[in-house]
Amino acid sequence: MKVAVLLLFSWAFSAHGADVYVHMMPWFETKESNSGQWGIHWTMANRNPDNVVDGKQDIASFYHPEIGAYASGDPDVVDWQLGAMKTAGIKGAFIDWPGTTEAFDYPKNKENAEAIIDGTVRAGLQFAVVYEDNNLNLAGVGDKIAQGTADMQYVQSNYFSKGNYVQLDGAPLLLDFGPQALYDDNWDQIFSPLDPKPTFLTLWNQNQQGGSFVKGEYAWVYSNYLDGLNNWYNFQEVPIKVGVAYPGFNSFYEQGGWPGPGFTIEFGTDTFQATFDLALANTDVIQICTWNDYGEGTIIEPTLEFGTQFLDIIQAATGTQYTHADFDEVTEIFLLRKQHANNATMLGHLAQRYHNLVHKFD
Ligand SMILES: *[C@@H]1O[C@H](CO)[C@@H](O)[C@H](O)[C@H]1NC(C)=O
Repeated sequence: MKVAVLLLFSWAFSAHGADVYVHMMPWFETKESNSGQWGIHWTMANRNPDNVVDGKQDIASFYHPEIGAYASGDPDVVDWQLGAMKTAGIKGAFIDWPGTTEAFDYPKNKENAEAIIDGTVRAGLQFAVVYEDNNLNLAGVGDKIAQGTADMQYVQSNYFSKGNYVQLDGAPLLLDFGPQALYDDNWDQIFSPLDPKPTFLTLWNQNQQGGSFVKGEYAWVYSNYLDGLNNWYNFQEVPIKVGVAYPGFNSFYEQGGWPGPGFTIEFGTDTFQATFDLALANTDVIQICTWNDYGEGTIIEPTLEFGTQFLDIIQAATGTQYTHADFDEVTEIFLLRKQHANNATMLGHLAQRYHNLVHKFD
């Protein structure tokens, strides 16, 4: 009897049937990609990745990418990231999207987001965008409605139109990281040119600021950890809820000389398993927070510190036919691409090898 109950329990907690997505940052730059300057998300106010401390680059994070500090728009990096997602059984990426405002590093971030979108097509993954409406504040945009409307028109023409854009509840899924700049009927105004209206989700506990088309919320990481998540899963009443799983929260803001949240949630597989299991028990669409936010310390992509430990958990839960060895293959292809960057014949073979790997079970 006990055995049967346990079996049922573990079956209920497998991710078969749940769609797992990852929240992805497109904002990393190397000296090669950024006119000789490391991007600010590797340096914050005071780090220099050219310095190596205890065998690791001095980046603004407690964690270090397995492939070294990278450029988010480099197609080889994109294939490494998306190849790892694909072989973990992840369905796609929710990409942090800066809008079309010309300020700071936003245009580069948008360009990188589009390199990632191209990569999702190569990898046979889906994508959706997470709009950063707060950028309208940070960039000091005068007419936020006009800029927001232009952003939504851009999203409709360039992203919703793609065959691999995530559809949820019969319409393209649009998430907002807020609201933080546009509130209430501002959203109705900026959505007015959109047909169909997107399935629009705000951050958790903010749907009442999302205007009349809002369909629900997505959960995020916060200091109240499992209490906050349990509360939201059990009591927040909205039609659509996207759950969250994360490995912890260990931000570098204080050390890096940047403002930002200072709470800590222990980083590791226990936190990841606990939040993942809770999400699986409560929702059928899950967003992992995050793929690669090095500054906040919420990374699940392969790092020097944790390797593929988080991806191994996801791979087991999604029930994909890929195995751990496929993660090694993805990294090997990346390293060979860099090693043979000037050999077009070799690059052709490697592109084919990548294609065969990511479509092996499609
Ligand atoms: C380029 O790669 C091909 C295929 O692997 C190999 O046969 C050839 O020797 C390489 N060329 C050079 C110049 O290394």
